[in-house]
Amino acid sequence: MHKSVQDIIKMKKDGKKISVITSYDYTLGSLCDKAGIDILLVGDSAGMVMLGYENTIPVTMDQMCMFTEAVSRARQNSLLVADLPFMSYQVNIDDAIKNSGRLIKAGADAVKLEGGASMAETISAIVDVGIPVMGHIGLQPQTTILSQGYKVQGKTKDTALKLIDDAKELEEAGVFSIALEMVSHEVAEIISETIRVPTIGIGSGMGCNGQVLVIQDILGMYDKIKPKFAKRYLNLSNDIVNALENYKNEVESGTFPSPDNWFSMEENELEKLREEIGR
Ligand code: KIV
Repeated sequence: MHKSVQDIIKMKKDGKKISVITSYDYTLGSLCDKAGIDILLVGDSAGMVMLGYENTIPVTMDQMCMFTEAVSRARQNSLLVADLPFMSYQVNIDDAIKNSGRLIKAGADAVKLEGGASMAETISAIVDVGIPVMGHIGLQPQTTILSQGYKVQGKTKDTALKLIDDAKELEEAGVFSIALEMVSHEVAEIISETIRVPTIGIGSGMGCNGQVLVIQDILGMYDKIKPKFAKRYLNLSNDIVNALENYKNEVESGTFPSPDNWFSMEENELEKLREEIGR
């Protein structure tokens, strides 16, 4: 049985840190699950790291459903959370419920959406139909970057108070956890101590109850943006390019394939074939 949202809430109560990694496909999703990661997040960052968009704005519900289905076939133990993409929940509450339902039917256990107090009503409505919601405040890539670019949030008293208020409103609305993106670490710590549900930080310091990173960043596979918070545990781009160059060289020199990599006919069948075609 895979982890539930209740297990994640309990981890905070038990003082256990929560690990979250984005996943968008079957192969890497299986490895994240095997590594014991608590939550696999099918983030709309898929638009950038999987589809090559400049930002997350073009991502569609159909694309999010496809990624979610692939990861759901891989996951055995982790909780699976999927992002509602831009404009799939902001227009009206009916859309928000319908699109949350689509992600659940695609295999997610919960959905995540961006926004503070102004999203509280939408969140309550989704939670009321029985779909768990993860909130997302601080830097909100779907909208903040349109007006401010990638900028640390909560650096002044007033913006900090707004974030703390947003977190309380989301908790009140029924979220089971809140992602805090690029929030100053002091404010992230205050929020984590103020609310009962777990906070999941990205670039928001160690006061959060858990951490989330994009899988391509951890593995060193995406070079377009290198945020300060995205610690690289591998440098796979180099290894992959080296492997591909080796492959190309071996194809060109005829070293690949070798008998280890091909299949043979029975000797007598080959004889008969040769006779038949006269070679
Ligand atoms: O889409 C995403 O990857 C996210 C994060 C919190 C990393 O929302």
